[in-house]
Amino acid sequence: PAVLVLWALLGYLAGSIPFGVLLSRAMGLGDLRKIGSGNIGATNVLRTGNKAAAAGTLILDGAKGAVAVLLARWLAAEDAAQLAGFAAFLGHCYPAWLRFRGGKGVATFIGLVLALSWPVGLMTCATWLAAAAMSRISSVGALVAACLSTAWMILLRDYDTTALTLVLAALIFWRHRENITRLRQGTESKIGKS
Ligand code: G3P
Repeated sequence: PAVLVLWALLGYLAGSIPFGVLLSRAMGLGDLRKIGSGNIGATNVLRTGNKAAAAGTLILDGAKGAVAVLLARWLAAEDAAQLAGFAAFLGHCYPAWLRFRGGKGVATFIGLVLALSWPVGLMTCATWLAAAAMSRISSVGALVAACLSTAWMILLRDYDTTALTLVLAALIFWRHRENITRLRQGTESKIGKS
């Protein structure tokens, strides 16, 4: 149990690094929390017009979920890997450094699912890209991918992490509740627009 607590803590710490905020600040783009949706993720970084910063945020936010899982699996065991991934997701959404006001967890979710089960991760990532490209709305991509990730898991007969994926998908919906309201009102912004 002590080992699991340690991995949960390490996962949380990795996940809580707000790469979007840090990269935007370092690249002179301003305070991300005062731009667009105010979210700290790659979609909102893209609203600054800087594609490199957005891509960097997406990759680094994904990598922190993947690294947490892979390190825990390598140095401990599978249960530690799932816990570290879950904690990284929570760290991204509720970082202590930002008074627990973090992101929506999409990139970190894709990163950790890729590390837990790469076929499911690839399908989830493809779903996200396809739904975002078709709708031109990032949150639609995220919500469709979150829903379908569990379906991919069942279809690919990868049951070990199904429960975790379901919980994370539910949390992604919870974190997108303002986006869902905007989608219902027809006021959600298109990718790259404020
Ligand atoms: O990953 C977050 C994305 O789905 C929505 O971001 O900034 O449009 O709320 P945003």
